[in-house]
Amino acid sequence: MSSKYPVVLIAGDGIGPEVSKAVVNILEAAGAPLEWIACDAGLAALDKGKEVMPEETLEAVKKHHVALKGPCTTPVGKGFTSVNVQLRKKLNLFAAIRPVRSLEGVPTRYENVDMVIVRENTEGLYSGVENEIIKGLVTSMKVVTVDGTERIARRAFQYIQKREREKLTVFHKANIMKMSDGLFLKSVEKIHQDEFAEIPYDTQIIDAGCMKLVQDPTKFDVLLMENFYGDVVSDLAAGLVGGLGVVPGSNIGFEDAVFEAVHGSAPDIAGKGVANPLALLMSGVMMLNHMYETNGDKQIHAAAESIKAAYNKALAEGDKTGDLGGSLDTDGFAKAVIKRLT
Ligand code: NAI
Repeated sequence: MSSKYPVVLIAGDGIGPEVSKAVVNILEAAGAPLEWIACDAGLAALDKGKEVMPEETLEAVKKHHVALKGPCTTPVGKGFTSVNVQLRKKLNLFAAIRPVRSLEGVPTRYENVDMVIVRENTEGLYSGVENEIIKGLVTSMKVVTVDGTERIARRAFQYIQKREREKLTVFHKANIMKMSDGLFLKSVEKIHQDEFAEIPYDTQIIDAGCMKLVQDPTKFDVLLMENFYGDVVSDLAAGLVGGLGVVPGSNIGFEDAVFEAVHGSAPDIAGKGVANPLALLMSGVMMLNHMYETNGDKQIHAAAESIKAAYNKALAEGDKTGDLGGSLDTDGFAKAVIKRLT
């Protein structure tokens, strides 16, 4: 009999609570031995009179090392710094790993897409370091460090080795941002040459890379890029396999890991009960696999396998949410998965 493993649960904003509830129900029905530690962040925290990124939530993740997180809203053009950015930086979750795969029952322009985006998660243009120099002149700083780039490069190559993937492609714009992207590229190339020379490696200037991605995504395997490019390319890639409802993700550091979908809080559909919980569910499966690698608990592994088989079967048999052309709502899809658990 396994013990129960504590997992921090941050439900998030907008569709976050809806999809989180569905995912918790599925993980429980699959027999995953988890004890949920509910913590606040984002607007939900503000509503309770707390900081937008409460210290107690950060401490809980540091203590338990694993979290499942729903999306958190960030105001546009004003207001507080993104909760997601704060969480990733404060916990040093420097690697975002985002698998993008075709799914049976989700027809798209391309079949057999199977790539992984590795996004540097703590530096780059996404740092949000901005200054108004004088009225009418604002600068936004792009931060690139050798240490930050070498560690994400190493993580990407290690991922390729461990998962027996084929190749790393780096997206960059070092022809224009010669110093910042230049340093990124140089640092990745050094790690490749010094430590992983046997792994096939190439580079793409990001604009041409995006064009090639939409022309034929099956030509790509593992993609590595700085934070902001990773943000944009993740959504682009999601669009190639059925949309934001089907792309999961993890934010991983040396100690802690936070699993969350690529999508945001989707205010346009929040509260309607129609959001697709699959991306967060897939993130939950990634979390179970991560936990299994750490604790070797077969019950965790069995739950992950059972959930994956169940959602694949549900999709293949036409049980889908509206974003994928189906007729199920959030709860309906959760029930369709639970019904197929073995
Ligand atoms: P979004 O990902 O929330 O939504 C984009 C479009 O995709 C919308 O039409 C939405 O309805 C749809 N969509 C997203 N997830 C879906 C799902 N699970 N099922 C069905 N349809 C889905 O992106 P948007 O609108 O740019 O951002 C909304 C808010 O989310 C912003 O405040 C943003 O800062 C935040 N955000 C948070 C993220 C996080 O917590 N990791 C990531 C991305 C955005």
